[in-house]
Amino acid sequence: EKEGYQHFMIKEIHEQPKGVHETLMRRLDKDHNIVLDGIKLTKEDLEKINKVYIVACGTAYHAGLVGRYAIEKFAKIPVEVDVASEFRYRDPFVDENTLFIAVSQSGETLDTLAALREAKRKGARILSVVNVVGSSVARESHDVFYTWAGPEIAVASTKAYTTQLMAMYLIALNMASTKGTMSKEDYSKVVAELKTLPEKIEKILGDIDKIQHQADAQFSNESVFFMGRGLDVNVAHEGSLKLKEISYINSFAIAAGELKHGTIALIEDGTLVIALATQDHLYEKMLSNIQEVKARGAYVLAVAKEGNKEAEKTADVVMYIPDTTDELTPILSVIPLQLFAYFIAVARGCDVDKPKNLAKSVTVE
Ligand code: F6R
Repeated sequence: EKEGYQHFMIKEIHEQPKGVHETLMRRLDKDHNIVLDGIKLTKEDLEKINKVYIVACGTAYHAGLVGRYAIEKFAKIPVEVDVASEFRYRDPFVDENTLFIAVSQSGETLDTLAALREAKRKGARILSVVNVVGSSVARESHDVFYTWAGPEIAVASTKAYTTQLMAMYLIALNMASTKGTMSKEDYSKVVAELKTLPEKIEKILGDIDKIQHQADAQFSNESVFFMGRGLDVNVAHEGSLKLKEISYINSFAIAAGELKHGTIALIEDGTLVIALATQDHLYEKMLSNIQEVKARGAYVLAVAKEGNKEAEKTADVVMYIPDTTDELTPILSVIPLQLFAYFIAVARGCDVDKPKNLAKSVTVE
């Protein structure tokens, strides 16, 4: 069932254009309006909502971080994102004016389910973004958005993440159009751009050899650090998690602006730094962060938009993603990071689909 691929993970990485396409196209009517069948939030419901909590674990939490940005930007509602194991024990401000969004591939993650129950008990409206149809999280929610990723077998989540991102954009846009917080024109522009993403993911997958080559040159590193600003820092966290869970390399991610506040002390000759520089309004700032680490001897792999070639002057290697608007880059910029993690793990001889100590579905605390 790996259909000729060496591992489920690489098969699932390749299934992303299709998954993202399905998640989107099943929700667009013939006039390109977003129609969310499983979500019954009316204009009155939304007017009441004064706060959104997005709660999840691991990769799904990273999708939630991007969701926050989309909901705040498009629908203008304040959003907090929390990991489920923290949320459920910290007595958060949740009431009947709260929208609680649970994000979960399996729909069976114990902490996420417990957080959902706690929020429900306090009167929140519960919306879930889930991949597995009929799972516990889906069953216990008022509204459900199914990501159409198809079964995800590899422990490391890839296609679930990109379809969760698409889900978050669609939910945010749908809220925005219901609430009237976005002009018809801006809304149509974002929807049109969303439609280009599957093809753009395909294009990045076409550069696979270049990424494999980089991974083959870098696999013996014992630590790697990821940095970015704005939305990129969320993707940096996801790239870092992917790398550590399947290759066992000690990796972590920081907001690049935090470098000077501590982390730069770790940079020495040859330290591998993955720098995400896809946000136009933060590009210059990222270039100076790249210079800072370069000046201390780091080897920098940057991820940038095709249109921004400046990074080549400072970074050692640049992996390009096709141009898109700043808000939508995470669906693209994560792809080279998934591939990088995959090829590094393969080069290190790791059991890619079944990393040690990890289970696909975490149904215990
Ligand atoms: C990482 C990974 C985990 C899951 C997390 C949540 O690649 O797969 O971090 O994202 O355990 O699982 P779900 O989404 O099933 O709730």
